[in-house]
Formats: sequence, C-alpha cells, structure tokens
Amino acid sequence: MLRTAAPDDRARFSELRRREFSRLDVLGETYLDYAGSALYGETQIRKHHAALNRGLFGNPHSEHAASRRSADVIEATRHRVLRFFGVDESTHAACFAANTTAAIKLVAEAYPFDSRTPLVLSTDNHNSVNGIREYARSAGARVHYLPIDNSLRLLDAESHLSRVAGRGLLAFPGQSNFSGVLHDLTLVRRASEFGLDVLLDAAAFVPSHPLDLSEVPADFTVLSFYKMFGFPTGVGALIARHEALARLRRPWFSGGTVDYVSVALGRHRLHPRHEGFEDGTANFLDIAAIADGLELLETVEMPKVRAHVAGLTGRFLAGIKDLTHRTGIPAVSVYGPRTLDRRGGIVAFNLNSADGEPIPYTEVEARAVDARIAIRGGCFCNPGAAEIAFSFDPVRVASCLDSTGARFSQRRFRECLGGPVGAVRVSFGLANNDEDVVRALAFVASFLESAIPTDVRNITARISNSV
Ligand SMILES: Cc1ncc(COP(=O)(O)O)c(C=O)c1O
Repeated sequence: MLRTAAPDDRARFSELRRREFSRLDVLGETYLDYAGSALYGETQIRKHHAALNRGLFGNPHSEHAASRRSADVIEATRHRVLRFFGVDESTHAACFAANTTAAIKLVAEAYPFDSRTPLVLSTDNHNSVNGIREYARSAGARVHYLPIDNSLRLLDAESHLSRVAGRGLLAFPGQSNFSGVLHDLTLVRRASEFGLDVLLDAAAFVPSHPLDLSEVPADFTVLSFYKMFGFPTGVGALIARHEALARLRRPWFSGGTVDYVSVALGRHRLHPRHEGFEDGTANFLDIAAIADGLELLETVEMPKVRAHVAGLTGRFLAGIKDLTHRTGIPAVSVYGPRTLDRRGGIVAFNLNSADGEPIPYTEVEARAVDARIAIRGGCFCNPGAAEIAFSFDPVRVASCLDSTGARFSQRRFRECLGGPVGAVRVSFGLANNDEDVVRALAFVASFLESAIPTDVRNITARISNSV
C-alpha cells in the first residue's frame, strides 16, 4: 500500500499551490484532468520567457552562434532528460518527438515485425499503442493481447508471455490512463528474459511517479512533457536503449536524419543513434523549456509528488465509496481498484440514479462544466479497458457497430447496447489540494436525490484523518 504525504509535505504542497498555481483559485476552476495534461507552474513560464527574451536562437543545423545556442540547449536538455530517468548517454538515447504518439510511431513503423516476430499488447492500452497492431499486421506478424481481469489488472501476464517467448515486442502502460491501475514494472525485466523487446508507455505514469530506467530496463520508453509539467506542449520523447534503437529499420529518411543522400545513386545513410530518428528541425524553442519543468519536479521530489497524489486519490475514493441513494442503491460505480493498492491518481467511474440506472457520462460531464470542474468523459482512448469495465459482449458490440455503420454516434451505440459506453474520469496531480477533493465530492454528492451527506466537508475531514 502506498504511503501518503506527511503533514510537513502537505504544508509544502499548499505553499506550492499558492506560489505556482494561484490562477486556479483566481479563476475559481477545479482542475481534475491531470491525465489529460498537467498544469505548468508560473516560475517555468517566467524563466522560459526570460531565456527567450535574453537569447538569440536559430535553426540548430547551422554553424553561427544563434544556431549553436539552440543545438547546445537541445543537447543539454537531452542529457537532463536521461539523468531525470536515472540513465545517461552511455546506455540510452533520448529522441525528441512531437508527443507520446509520435514517439510510439517511431518504433511502430520501424520495428522488424514478421511472421515469427509478434506484437504483444496489454488489453489495457491507449489507442496510440493499440495502433502499433496495424504495422504488425501489415508485416504479417501475429498480435496477442494480454488479458485483464475485472479489476482491470493484467491477468497472469507472465504465463501468457512465456507462450510467445523468443522474440517480438511487448507494449504496455506504466499506469492505465483509464483505471489508474499501476501495472507491475517487473514485467519489463521478465519480458526481456523471455526474449521480448519492451515498449513502456510512461505517458500517464511519469507525471506522478519516479521512474529509474536503470532499474526498469525497457527498450523503448515513451512520454509527453506537457503531461509531466504542463509546458511545453508539442514535445515528447522516445528514450531507447542503444541496442534496441539499432534494431529498428526506419522506413524513410528526412532532413536532419542523414549523413548523406545521393539523388543520382539513390542511396542514403542515416545518422546513428537519436539523430537518425529526429525528423526535420527539432522544436528547439520549446525543448528549451523542458529543463524548467524537470527542475520543478526535482525540487518537489517525485516520491513526494507520488505520496501527495496518493493522499488526494485516497480521500476521493474513500469519499465516494459509501455514497448511496436512500433506496440503498450505490451512487457510484468505480471501474478498477477502489483502494490505493497498486493504483495511481486516475479514477474512472459512473454515477447511478436512485433506481440503479447509470447516468449518461455526457450528462455528468455537462454538469461538471457548469460547476467549473474539469473532468473527462468517454472511454479515454482506451477501448480495451472500457470493454472489460462495461462488460461488453463482443457479439453484441459487433452487431451494434454493424447496424450503426457510418451513422455511428455515442448515443446510438449506447441505445443499441443498453448500458454505459463511457465513464467520467478524475485525475489528480501536483497542483491539486484537499479543497479540490472536497469540491469533487460535493459535485458527486449533488447527484444524490436527497443530499445525504449534507456537509461533505465534514465527510472529507473524517476521511483525511483516516488515510
Ligand atoms: C497512457 C497514454 N499513452 C499515450 C497517450 C498519448 O499521448 P499524446 O496525446 O501526448 O501523444 C496518452 C494521452 O492521454 C496516455 O494517457
């Protein structure tokens, strides 16, 4: 079970909220969509603006001072990113890409899939990982899914892996962006022992958990920086072990990636290591902002971020656990773990009416907008977890998809299936505080037909003492 923040640390996070994120309180908005994006701290923006105003930055592919400055910033940031994840250039390369999705695609399009080199996917995966299967299939590779159980955890993953042992690529998330489940990272080493390469989707994991890649030997790790510290958007990374990167076969070349190209001879030679994977001009001005974001997280310390987020999540889970209508019907159905055991700060759930019918997530989302609470609705680009969470019957789903065809909409799909097809998701992060949890609980309680917990604040106070 995770430890939650100590009282001293709670005071430090309150101070951080005042110093870096006061705009949340000025705007009167409750931001509970950290799985969508983190929020940037004010200091990051001040420092970045000062650096831009002071410096002269040019395209990094030239020799002049402005170009050198950009190139130096990129290389220093590359080093800093590797160090943040516990490794350095001797074992790993950091390739900058537009986001996690683009970083995944670098691997997907270049991985040597064939009839003897399969793809193994966790059923719980973001669509940006699920999409790898199209590259695998078109190369004639088999695609296997590791099943998940009703609490949305991987089910007996090792024995499934042992059956595909030999070669291939396993791709799974550190934290589920649907359920908040923390998948067991020892699976990375076990999969390597089975002869598989591993792509670790760290996009939802690294914003609130330390990750040491010298302990977790993933071949490919992908992430987006805006999910970690809000700014910059448009930059992610593929962090790859050198041997794994060397096994990839890039399907093309572009400006920035080549030692040479001969038009007359039809020949080219890719740069070795990260340079062969960074297409075109790097996003040099935004890359220059990454160090400020990493500094914020380093100053706060990742284990403390994890404990802070665990505390908020625990208080929220405890607050919704016993909410029931007067009919005795539970007001909330949570998908995934209901305790802090091996879970992060992402909680997906549906609200039920007094007669037990799920309230459409679209209605809940609309009311959250009115209450100035930022939450997300839908299946969060994670259809595998959604299909298990909502107990979809594959035959029925196929028939509903066939019958709706080009007229597909969430409403038609829901009417055809006769059950929930989406949920609402709250996700906590660095900037959140107990007041946010109280507002989230008050919002959930507002769906009870009579307000049983008349003073949600008291409930949360009781909960705070118990976690
Ligand atoms: C687990 C996970 N993987 C991948 C992605 C895709 O990230 P991006 O949209 O930044 O490419 C997300 C985004 O929400 C995610 O949560």
